[in-house]
Amino acid sequence: MYNNVTVFDHPLIQHKLSILRDKSTSSKDFRALISEIATLMCYDATRDLPLKEVEIETPLCKATVKQISGKKLAVVPILRAGLGMVDGITNLVPSSRIGHIGLYRDEETLQPVEYYCKLPKDINERDVFVVDPMLATGGSAIDAVSQIKLRGPRSIRFLCIIAAPEGVEAFTKAHPDVHVFCAALDEKLNEKGYIVPGLGDAGDRIFGTK
Ligand code: PRP
Ligand code: URA
Repeated sequence: MYNNVTVFDHPLIQHKLSILRDKSTSSKDFRALISEIATLMCYDATRDLPLKEVEIETPLCKATVKQISGKKLAVVPILRAGLGMVDGITNLVPSSRIGHIGLYRDEETLQPVEYYCKLPKDINERDVFVVDPMLATGGSAIDAVSQIKLRGPRSIRFLCIIAAPEGVEAFTKAHPDVHVFCAALDEKLNEKGYIVPGLGDAGDRIFGTK
């Protein structure tokens, strides 16, 4: 329905997501699953990174092979919950730089409040993966991407685990040039701005704060 939104239907991702949603899943398992899903999503979300040809020598002969060209990724988690996805991505792309954007949702207004922003100096030469498990109203992701755009990166992708239709609508309207990757597009937001069926409060479940 949106040409810049990918919903991953891979069985491994869907299986892991089903355990993530279960309220009886422990914080320890929750953290591991968030990271594993991020790795699987990253594998596909990096599919179109540009390659260059380089000469190497195998034990048998010289060969022309392909490597990712230029500077690698910048991964920018939206604090706190986005932190849970970072290792999953850097496991695959270890030379990534990591930035941080601190935002929390005001519980009354649901508006994002920014409290921290530190991005890699050379972000303008990198492809940026902004990560946050939840895209609910979209306010936090919209703000984070707007901040990053001020620094003129090569490209921006947004990776989340669960998205609400309301968040996708708002985000794609605000940033039509940013591809959204998610593992599920859920039914709706409830009156408190939580995704239904969702998985609850991602930050609290990752860090065990509740
Ligand atoms: C959660 C989540 C997103 C945001 C999504 O963070 O991790 O950042 O809410 O909601 P939105 O799309 O309506 O903006 P939260 O504000 O709970 O902060 P936390 O990660 O520090 O717990
Ligand atoms: N933030 C979360 O952590 N969960 C939701 O369902 C919505 C926003």
